[in-house]
Amino acid sequence: MNRPEGQHPGRIYFDNAATTPVHPEVIRVMSEALAGNFGNPSSIHAEGRAARAAIEQARKTVARCLNASVGEIFFTSGGTESNNMALKCAVRDLGVRRIISSPLEHHCVLHSLESLEKYQQIRVDRLQPDALGRFDTGQLRALLAADSAPTLVSLMYANNEIGTMIDLDEVAEICAEAGAWFHSDTVQTIGYFPIDLAKTRVSFLSGSAHKFHGPKGVGFVYISGDNQIRPFIDGGSQERNMRAGTENLPSILGMAKALELAYAEMDARRDAILDIRDYFLGELTDRFEGISVNGDCENGHYKILSVEFPPSPKTDLLLFNLDIAGISVSGGSACSSGADAGSHVIAGIKPDSPGKTVRFSFSHFNTRAEADAVVEKLSEILKAKKAVG
Ligand SMILES: Cc1ncc(COP(=O)(O)O)c(C=O)c1O
Repeated sequence: MNRPEGQHPGRIYFDNAATTPVHPEVIRVMSEALAGNFGNPSSIHAEGRAARAAIEQARKTVARCLNASVGEIFFTSGGTESNNMALKCAVRDLGVRRIISSPLEHHCVLHSLESLEKYQQIRVDRLQPDALGRFDTGQLRALLAADSAPTLVSLMYANNEIGTMIDLDEVAEICAEAGAWFHSDTVQTIGYFPIDLAKTRVSFLSGSAHKFHGPKGVGFVYISGDNQIRPFIDGGSQERNMRAGTENLPSILGMAKALELAYAEMDARRDAILDIRDYFLGELTDRFEGISVNGDCENGHYKILSVEFPPSPKTDLLLFNLDIAGISVSGGSACSSGADAGSHVIAGIKPDSPGKTVRFSFSHFNTRAEADAVVEKLSEILKAKKAVG
């Protein structure tokens, strides 16, 4: 399947963990909303009522996908806001005094925790990851048992740099047994893995439309019905008084359409992405000496492949040279030099790694032909050939 027409033709986009191309159906729904559904959802006249009805329909779609109730879904500006809201409201409104998390979380969680530590005197305990970025649930249980302070556990479902995943059900069970709240940053997994919130007892989770072929700047936070929190943004009574501001109607409708499509095509998309990822990894392994995969590739998120190339002067400008050649990927290495701030995730699992990490991340719009072209270009740039025989 080719990328939607008009979205940077001729380039190869292997950076789908950063963001995804917008699905043509989503563009259609958003264009129609922009052109024809301009009312303010808080107005009581016909235009306002049409806008309100469309938003509530979108909420139903999101709730249905997650098996949540509509009253538990709040629209936000994206994953960053959703995670900030969950963590900060849990402290302010639920009385959380300790948070157990990890050093591998996304910056919006890491920096929220730093702020809560510094300004709210919240204690933050961090689980120690292993070399693949996994956590020991024994350590989690021990930490929960060691302190009776009201506790929230915050662990991302899939890591955005290396793809390593937690067992969401197991962590949810452990938290429930210990009487702790559980927040999971599910930004990379919503639309890729089914989540049944009637079975999995999560207090908060977050979604961001642009990670599943929707628009940027819109997302949602799920807050389970038994947690009463106060408004995160003060103002009007939008989002049942929790998040003031006139709703971004076209984006909310676009997100609901993107999620609906992601659920309808989840298995087919996963198979297509896995086919490309495994093919690409096979070709890389055949062609390059000394590469290694970061994270728990086998059990992790299928769209993310983080590869460490051995150190060499040729890898220094690798991302730049790939970009010039029309190929988009992301970086991330343990060391920091100059403008490259380094990756806290790679540093957290492989502190002494001298290599150059490239994150390739795929979507169902990618093809094997693109994988071939990327391997060819990498061979040209690195001039690395594995000895035959
Ligand atoms: C795991 C994770 N959490 C949160 C975010 C932030 O989401 P948003 O870009 O919608 O603010 C991202 C996006 O990079 C992410 O990968």
